[in-house]
Amino acid sequence: MRIGLTVNGERRECDVWGGESLLFALRERLGLPGSKNACEQGECGSCSVLLDGVLVCACLVLAAQADGHEVATVEGLADDGRLHRVQEAFADEGAVQCGFCTPGLVVAAAALLDQTPEPTDDEIREALSGNLCRCTGYQKIFDAVRAAVAT
Ligand code: FES
Ligand code: FES
Repeated sequence: MRIGLTVNGERRECDVWGGESLLFALRERLGLPGSKNACEQGECGSCSVLLDGVLVCACLVLAAQADGHEVATVEGLADDGRLHRVQEAFADEGAVQCGFCTPGLVVAAAALLDQTPEPTDDEIREALSGNLCRCTGYQKIFDAVRAAVAT
């Protein structure tokens, strides 16, 4: 089936099969590999995107469900070549090691700051609780979000 959706503000179309995930369509059909596929079971958050402004695991959403809707991926965060403040903070604070979790965490953190510009520590932890990282121990990620809040 053919679907049409808006991705990072751009109208896109592609052919998908009925059981195909939005994550697969983004990565393999639309050339947007920023959203990562680590578990494909909704456990790790590495595939986090916004669907009509709501944070979702793209591996759990059918591509067909995104037909006619708006999707925002990590590729859309930078503005005119300038990194999003969360991306800059992740780099500055050393919150990236292997980087596999990073796109999902950045999308989740950016979504949090959009909705809650001055989150409490607990709100940051809650917002990132669906995103697993096997490398950093989370402290530097937390520090990066805190730093992004301050910029
Ligand atoms: S790949 Fe989607 S939650 Fe892990
Ligand atoms: S930096 Fe490696 S999984 Fe998070």
